[in-house]
Amino acid sequence: MITLKSPQEIEGLKAAGALVAKCHKEIAKMIRPGITTWDIEEFVEDMLAKAGARAYTKGYKGYKYATCASVNDVIAHGFPNKTPLKNGDLVKIDIVAQLNGWIGDSAWCYGVGELSPEAEKLMRVTKECLDIGIRHAVIGNRIGDAMHALQKHAESHGFSLVRDLAGHGVGRELHEEPSFIHVGTPGKGFRFKEGMVFTIEPMVNAGTWQMTIDPDGWTCRTADGSLSAQFEHTIAITKDGPLILTDQGD
Ligand code: MF3
Ligand code: CO
Repeated sequence: MITLKSPQEIEGLKAAGALVAKCHKEIAKMIRPGITTWDIEEFVEDMLAKAGARAYTKGYKGYKYATCASVNDVIAHGFPNKTPLKNGDLVKIDIVAQLNGWIGDSAWCYGVGELSPEAEKLMRVTKECLDIGIRHAVIGNRIGDAMHALQKHAESHGFSLVRDLAGHGVGRELHEEPSFIHVGTPGKGFRFKEGMVFTIEPMVNAGTWQMTIDPDGWTCRTADGSLSAQFEHTIAITKDGPLILTDQGD
């Protein structure tokens, strides 16, 4: 069952989301060749703790870190580490904060130094996919309409959408219903209703959509070693349209 959140509950989700947005804005300033995803890990854990929040991923299903840090061909769930980032890397940082019991979940893709034209384009198109998905998340539409629109956009540029990892409902839990992948058929799937809160988190690959998981049980990579990008927001469906909880513009 998809639970609908009251305006008051959405205020709680907004506060958690705003904190994740703040982390990402600081990370954007830190990103440059030479820093490590471990530096970002420590920064995020500290920033969440100082705000009275918790890094929800730490201990979640045995995951050990406050962030997921996924570089180049790593699609998602990479471990932060002490390898310096280098010029041209694409790094995706995924943060889940729990504040006063409410969850905010957002992943952002950062270019390190100067990107290749291909990486630059992948990053741009992936961000556009997120924006298109959000724009279509309006009452009256179905999830298939929104996912189809963003899928078409990625594929028109020769890119593919990961099919093994899903967008999900968010509330007091990180993974609530619904669960859906970022490809779809118009007119199919659940209808958007006021009070739904979920992530949209397209993972777009330069090559095949197929994915492998490392022996560590977490690190998801493109099967062909191609680059992967991701942008993720948590949004709420309102009468006035989609409301982005993990970036309220402040
Ligand atoms: N944003 C990711 C998701 O939607 C967070 C994964 S948390 C992990 O599932 F702990 F499972 F890595
Ligand atoms: Co998520």
